Amino acid sequence: MIERQPYLRPTINAPILPVVTAILAAGIFIADTVTGLEIAVDVLYVVIVLMSAGFCQKRGIIVVSAGCMTLTVLSFFLTFTASSGAAAVINDGLGLLAIGATTYLVLRIKSSEVAMQSARAEVAHIARVTTLGELTASIAHEVNQPLAAIVTNGNACLRWLGHNPPNLREARQAAERIVDNGNRASNIIERIRELAKRSPTHKERLNINKPIREIISLTTTEIQQNRISLHTQLSGGLPLVLGDQIQLQQVLLNLILNAIEAMSSTAEGSREMLISSAKNEFGDVLVTVRDSGGGLEAKTLDRLFDAFYTTKPNGMGMGLAISRSIVEAHDGQIWAIPNTPRGAIVQFTLPAAGKKDPRLEAAVFVARG
Ligand SMILES: Nc1ncnc2c1ncn2[C@@H]1O[C@H](COP(=O)(O)OP(=O)(O)O)[C@@H](O)[C@H]1O
Ligand SMILES: [Mg+2]
Repeated sequence: MIERQPYLRPTINAPILPVVTAILAAGIFIADTVTGLEIAVDVLYVVIVLMSAGFCQKRGIIVVSAGCMTLTVLSFFLTFTASSGAAAVINDGLGLLAIGATTYLVLRIKSSEVAMQSARAEVAHIARVTTLGELTASIAHEVNQPLAAIVTNGNACLRWLGHNPPNLREARQAAERIVDNGNRASNIIERIRELAKRSPTHKERLNINKPIREIISLTTTEIQQNRISLHTQLSGGLPLVLGDQIQLQQVLLNLILNAIEAMSSTAEGSREMLISSAKNEFGDVLVTVRDSGGGLEAKTLDRLFDAFYTTKPNGMGMGLAISRSIVEAHDGQIWAIPNTPRGAIVQFTLPAAGKKDPRLEAAVFVARG
């Protein structure tokens, strides 16, 4: 069974909702004015207040509500005659009360929505900054020393070569120190990569749809702010995988943020993201993030996952590198292909929990001869 749904629609951008709301408000005003005061048409203004929440912030909702109250009072005076009686006044008062109460409730809902959105944005931000920031800071710190030594020895080497006659023995020693420090830097990076792979994990049997849903709810704000239509196609009855929930969320977050960033340059209205989970032909779980952004060039496909490879002015180029470390530490694979007609598809697989590792089987086979 496949759960297929447009997960999120971007908030309506065109001014359709405000126009419809205004027409409806005018309709209610006319109906309220032509009918007698004993018919409480003005209660319908609560619909206008509710609709305004779809396109207004708090201040706008208050203005709309005040407008509805003014229209109610206006049609009261237009309709009121000496014979209208007390019921008319009570009806009108009740209408005003209903508008006031609805406004109060809508404002409260709006406030909690705003608070929740900023909390989500905060969590997404913290998750991103801590992992990427920590890793980058430690790499920068550790690699800086051998790099400085390379520069110093390079300068020394040039100076020895510049002597008349050149001091080749000293120059050679300086060049050797350059090579040593280069190797040291590359060892450090290798060690950090190992560390990232082997950082203590809390692997548990889990359904991949759970971290997918959680990360979608964390990124909702960014997805909506970028006016992206998000669709999900999460397969039911997927095999469980043995995974570290947090690390897998990190992978998903990286892929989703990349998709959002790739689409920030595409024309609005055609920003589509599809996140899907399925079982592939080997019985593994396959997760796909598909976007309609700028896309990928064939010649860069194998470099995307390299550390520090980025095409963004402020990019760190670590998102996909970290994602690959994590997926491979889960015995999975990750790759990217161009989407048609445009955009990118980034996919990763995770073996079903309990499935025998084919590499181990191959090793046993070789060992047995
Ligand atoms: N969905 C995508 N669409 C287009 N290009 C992408 C996508 N995902 C990744 N890339 C490319 O891969 C590069 C590396 O991505 P990443 O490792 O996450 O680093 P960063 O996002 O910091 O640049 C990006 O700079 C971009 O060029
Ligand atoms: Mg990235």
